[in-house]
Formats: sequence, structure tokens, C-alpha cells
Amino acid sequence: MCGIVGYVGSGDAVSVLVEGLARLEYRGYDSAGVAVQNGGGVETRKLAGRIAGLRELLARRPIHGHCGIGHTRWATHGAPTERNAHPHIDCAGTLALVHNGIIENADVLRKRLEQDGHRFGTETDTETLVHLIEESPGATLEERVIAALNHVEGTYGVAVVAEADPGKIVVARRGSPVLLGVGDGEYLVASDASAVLGHTRSVVYLNDGDVAVVTAEGYRVLDRDAREQERAVDDIEWDLDAIALGGYPHFMLKEICEQAETVRSTLRGRLLVAEGTARLNGLNLTAEQCAAIRRIVIVACGTSWHAGLVGRHVLEELVGIPVSVEYASEYRYRRQLQLPGTVTIAISQSGETADTLEALRAARAAGSTVLGLVNVVGSTIAREADGGIYLHAGPEIGVASTKAFTSQVVALLLLGLYLGRQRGLDAEQGRRLVSQLVRLPELVERALAVEPQVRALAERYADARNALYLGRGANFPVALEGALKLKEISYIHAEGYPAAEMKHGPIALIDENMPVVCLAPKDPVYTKVVSNMQEVKARGGRIIAITSEGNGDLSKLADHQVAVPASPPLIAPVLTVIPLQLLAYHIAVLRGCDVDRPRNLAKSVTVE
Ligand code: G6P
Repeated sequence: MCGIVGYVGSGDAVSVLVEGLARLEYRGYDSAGVAVQNGGGVETRKLAGRIAGLRELLARRPIHGHCGIGHTRWATHGAPTERNAHPHIDCAGTLALVHNGIIENADVLRKRLEQDGHRFGTETDTETLVHLIEESPGATLEERVIAALNHVEGTYGVAVVAEADPGKIVVARRGSPVLLGVGDGEYLVASDASAVLGHTRSVVYLNDGDVAVVTAEGYRVLDRDAREQERAVDDIEWDLDAIALGGYPHFMLKEICEQAETVRSTLRGRLLVAEGTARLNGLNLTAEQCAAIRRIVIVACGTSWHAGLVGRHVLEELVGIPVSVEYASEYRYRRQLQLPGTVTIAISQSGETADTLEALRAARAAGSTVLGLVNVVGSTIAREADGGIYLHAGPEIGVASTKAFTSQVVALLLLGLYLGRQRGLDAEQGRRLVSQLVRLPELVERALAVEPQVRALAERYADARNALYLGRGANFPVALEGALKLKEISYIHAEGYPAAEMKHGPIALIDENMPVVCLAPKDPVYTKVVSNMQEVKARGGRIIAITSEGNGDLSKLADHQVAVPASPPLIAPVLTVIPLQLLAYHIAVLRGCDVDRPRNLAKSVTVE
């Protein structure tokens, strides 16, 4: 969601802040700003728009200092205007604050603060917090921040600077990530490690409830009673190359094209060929615990939820226990009827999605063991789960998730293999699956070779106003994912549907202007999908069939066929999704859309 960055040291704060904001821009990009504390107090520059605009503004009206904070915003309360952009300042103009999250009791607080004489200049919930700090008692900024936060309901990651406490940034987190970057004579704060990587690879991940005081001399982490806490310093595993375009026009294309490598990376060191199983040390489940599992619940949002739907097929098939897949946002507010022996798996690329995190907490409160399938190392879900599997797909910058999806499905296959072998899947079956997974990166590489063909298709359908995606079995979630990719980056209305269920409604939409993408790889429901394609054909729909090599000719039925390498049915989603990612990408580019920063979206949704 929004991005926070802060700097204190001997360098020029503004250049570090703007560099950090540019790296965080993928998390929110409707407005941006910085505040610098210098001899003259606290000065801010902000605007509605992107970081490029902020750079120009700062070139026209520079500010200088060695301590400052910055923010790139994804609007929740109040339109994305200059006034509503962060940092926000108090009445006296001596405090500046940036905030991620939502102050849920903002209306009540605002009314009271206005009655007490505070003047509000914005429509944001965040501004209440800066006025609260202004009137809070305390000898130091951290004491005032702690006192103010005691009145706040909701979620926050905040960074604050004040004229009265020169050279100091106070940060706090509850439900929204904040980390400290530990440099040489300089310290950074950020909502995401990518913002500090240009300066240091040493980071301190703050826990929920932590408050940290950062100066050029060092940092202190406090709890809400101002007692000092120890926090470990971790190393970031990747470097700046991982978040550079590397010659690609967009991060999304780069991330699609690197999937052979990212899938390999998810598998690396985890396949035990002779034993026919997987090594998943991070799961932290004993053999007894594995044997006691009676039910698996998967909670996730967006693309990760689609991966979860594939996971249901994988886990039910390989492990033989019932799996339900829940929208995290719905699950968390339902009564939890959890049976003993429930394992809940939170799937999340970022590890910070607010609803997924809260669903995990709700599951734990109901007595479930909780696991995380997470990409971002050190993220909140990763740290709160009892165990899990890191995807190791590297940073995903494109807002539309691609490589995380394929790695999530691969991680679910590894989990299915591991749990299956613990619970009756025989060694021969295990070895067969291991050998199929060993070959998977090469198959992904070959699937990516469809790009020129898909680009030509994109030219043909770039002007479509609607699109339908149909699939069955493990490829139904792929249909959902293909439709999501198209709508989120090209703004073409698209729906994913179970191919047979189409007859109960969407078939009414089909005419010669409706592209219908049918997922038809070789699997046990192939002939059924072919029947559904007949139904589309009979109504004049334009069929794009995603099939597998050696699967027979569909040219009598389909207007276009794209073949990915043949694979066992449970693995096929990793391959069939690739043409759909490429189709969405090329259509969006042809329509002139901002592929990496689609309108209204954000990469990491840290508000519910
Ligand atoms: C946002 C992103 C999606 C992502 C979803 C869940 O909507 O734009 O790409 O799938 O959040 O995010 P997570 O980080 O939990 O996988």
C-alpha cells in the first residue's frame, strides 16, 4: 500500500528519501511528499502525482537537511490531492508525520481535536494523529508519540520528525510494516526493504506494537511502556539488480519471463529424488502433527487466493484430506468453527496483506496451527506463522502478480508431496512427482516461447470490451487468474468461470465480439472442456484455446490455439497461466496502459 521512508545521517536527506520513494512507488502512487527537518524547522514538499513530479518540484523549490521522512500514497480517506498527500503537519508547523494504515476512530478524534482548537487542513484520517501528538504530554518526541498512539484505534506504520527534537525520527507500527535500515553512520526507516537497499543490507524488522527512536548515532526499540527491547539485525538476501528492469520495458514482463528461474528457485534444495519426497524444514511440523491433520483451510486474497484454489486440487489429491479455500477478508469476520486437527495456510506474496494477516490471527485464536506461504522474507505473516514455505521468487515489483503465482503453486505441490508422503502416498508416486517437478523449470522455459504467438493474438483482441475465461478442475483457478490479469492492467472487463457453469448465465453474453479463452490442456476433463467449447462455438464466440502439446487438433473448434508443453494435470496450471499472463500484458501495452502501475491498485494491501 502506501510507502514510507525516512533518513537520518550525514548525507542529504532529500536525495535518499526520493530514491527510496522511487523504489516504493509500486506500493502506491497517487501522491507523494517529503518533510525535512533542518535549522529552520520542518519543511515539506508534496503533490498529487508520481515521484517524477516530486523530483521536479524539489528541483524548483529545494529543501536541505540531514533528517527527513517521505511518503508515496494510495488514497483511503480523502481524494489524492496535494493537500491530502503526506507528510501532514500540526497547527504550529513544527511536527511532520507520514502514515500507512487506517485510523479507525479518526472521526471521533477529529471532532474532539477541533473542539479543542486544532485546525485541520486535510480530509485524511492521518491528520488526527499529528494533532494528537501535538497536544500529547512528554519531554521527548517518543514520549509524545507513545501517548498519542494510546488514543488510536486502527492500524499504522508511522514516522514522525519534530522541530523540538532535531536529528531524530520516531517510528511506530501496528498492523503495517516498518523496518530500520542500519547503515554506516546513517539510519533509514522504511515500509519495505527495497527502499533501504541502496544504502544497506542490514535491517531490523519491527514487531507490532514497537516504537523506535532513530538518530545518526543509532536506534532504540521501545515497547508501548517505553521499555527498551532487543531486536535482531537481519540481512536482506537480494540486491539492487533484483529490483532493476534489466533491459525489460516493464517489471511485469521481466517477472513473467524470469519464471523458469523463479520456479527453479522455489524448488531448489527441496526435492529428495531417492526418497520421493520434499525437504521442507521451515514447516516446523513433526511427523505426529502431520498425521493428526484432519482438515486444511487456505486463506488468501487476489492472485494468492487463485493459487490457493489450485492448492485445493493439489492437496486433496496428494494428501487425501479436505481443503477449503477462503477469501481472507470474509473468513476473518465469520464465526470460526474449527475442528481439532485444522491447519490453516495463509498464502501471500508480500506477507503483509492486512486481511490475510488477520485471517491467520483469527485461525490461530480458534486453535489452528498456522502456516505461511510467503515470498517476502521477514514479513509479518512469515514471522507470525508457526512455520511455512518461503517462495524465494525474488522481489515482485509489477502490481499484477505473476511469478509469485507460479511459485505459490509450486510451493503447494511441494507441500502436497511432503504431507502426502507422510500420510500414505507411496514412494513410487512420490518419486514420479519429484521427477516431474525436476523438469518443470525447463517446461516453463518452453511455455514462455509462446510469446510471439500471444503478442499477435493481443493485436487481434486489444479492442475487445469484454472477455470470458473458462476452465475446469485445476485450470478453473487459472481462468480466474487470466481474467484478473486482463482486467487489472488493461481495464477490459473479464470474467473467469468454471467452463460448465457458463451455461447458467454468462453464455447469454456470447456473440461474435466476445473472446472466450478456454483452458484445455490434456487432463481428465479435457473432453468435457471440448464440449463446453462447442457450446461457445455454436453461439459465435471467438475461441482462444490454451492446450498442451500433443493434445490433438482443436482447429475445427477454436479460432486460435496456443500449446504449452504437456504435463501431469496437477502441474499444468504453472504452464497454462503463462500465455494468459502474456496476453494480458501485451493487450495492456497495446492499449497504452501503465502496466506496472495500473490505476487504483496497489501492490501490497495493508488496509482491510
Ligand atoms: C493486491 C495485489 C495482487 C495480490 C493481492 C494479494 O491486490 O495487487 O497482485 O495478489 O494484493 O497480495 P499478497 O501479497 O497477499 O499475495
